[in-house]
Amino acid sequence: MLEASSDSLESWRDEFPILHRSTYMISNSLGAMPRGVALSLAEYAETWATRGVRAWEERWWEMAGEVGNRVAAIIGASAGSVSMHDNVTTAQMVALSCLKPEGRRRKIVCSAADFPSMIRLYRAQEALGVEVHVVSAGDALNVTEEHLVDAIDEDTLIVAFSHVLFRTSFIVDPRPVIERARRVGALTMLDVYQSAGIVPFGVSELDIDFATGGCLKWLCGGPGNGFLYTRPELLRTVRPRFTGWLALSRPFAFDIDDDMLREDGMRMMNGTPPIPTYYAAIPGLDIIGQVGVGPIREKSRRMTARLLDLVDRRGWQTPTARDPERVAGTVAIDIPDALPASRELQAREVVVDYRPRVGIRVSPHFYNTFDELDRVVQALADVVEAREFGEVTSSRVT
Ligand SMILES: Cc1ncc(COP(=O)(O)O)c(C=O)c1O
Repeated sequence: MLEASSDSLESWRDEFPILHRSTYMISNSLGAMPRGVALSLAEYAETWATRGVRAWEERWWEMAGEVGNRVAAIIGASAGSVSMHDNVTTAQMVALSCLKPEGRRRKIVCSAADFPSMIRLYRAQEALGVEVHVVSAGDALNVTEEHLVDAIDEDTLIVAFSHVLFRTSFIVDPRPVIERARRVGALTMLDVYQSAGIVPFGVSELDIDFATGGCLKWLCGGPGNGFLYTRPELLRTVRPRFTGWLALSRPFAFDIDDDMLREDGMRMMNGTPPIPTYYAAIPGLDIIGQVGVGPIREKSRRMTARLLDLVDRRGWQTPTARDPERVAGTVAIDIPDALPASRELQAREVVVDYRPRVGIRVSPHFYNTFDELDRVVQALADVVEAREFGEVTSSRVT
């Protein structure tokens, strides 16, 4: 196939062992592990074994910043503006802990299409006098930038919204939302978990106040690597209530009255960081940095277009947007019995996932081939046909 043979990104396939045993199409959920992770984690073990406590001073204390700078290069942030956290929920809590509802300004505007963990977190802040306004689009799955803009007013403290919606992979244009928020004096926080590494953007250029994401998905960096970008001007003034000794300029003074905070991303950190997860994240971040999000997006657009074409030819339903400018990395296929069908595919080493309301999500990354797209669709057609005739035997099908 022309696309496959002319595709230089396929040369990266050897870096990802799972691609040799599975048709791996689930990078919206967990990106494939780079081969280099095993070496990197061995380096961690060797450092601990041989350098012991000296490792803190030699590398580990500042390692969150080191990893944060790799993330920063990918999301268009300046060096020193990204802190690392266990996950996005924690990262967003750190950002929210910088805010205080005052007077009329106490509204968090978010969307029903945001990841549910975020909405839980926002609603939990109601105990502090915050009001949560969840924008919905009725029966529609996608909450657009227009819907969000309409909900922002002088009472808005912060607008917290997703760049790419996790269910449908719909791309929200953040610019009008940020513009409107600025005009009324509200802050903005963008969840870039489903866009970082697959859709090009720059947080500095967008002039967003906070951005959160993780390295688990399209960045191939494994769990435990949530990140928080904070606009550098804010890093000089915000004082998170969710804080700790890493945020201090002189943590080793152990002086409970010394309140001087750092002015880089470390200001947003709190306790002792999970060093092994940083070692695990570096190979993936380095690969994505080398490949470049521009070429990744170019191939991703061709892959999602191809998938949509194959889905149409089978006569299957899809909630995925038809405007290629609006589709990030995933195509959803909404067939009856999508959940058991997705499990049967996994049992056959065709690794995809399922979400209620949208069906099976197929998420190719730069390391996948166009032949693999054909294979996924053919495998699904086989499963659908087998189910119709009651021949699916996998014990995981319920
Ligand atoms: C857009 C988005 N935000 C957040 C999360 C998860 O957040 P956390 O890292 O807190 O589990 C996901 C997970 O799939 C997601 O897709």
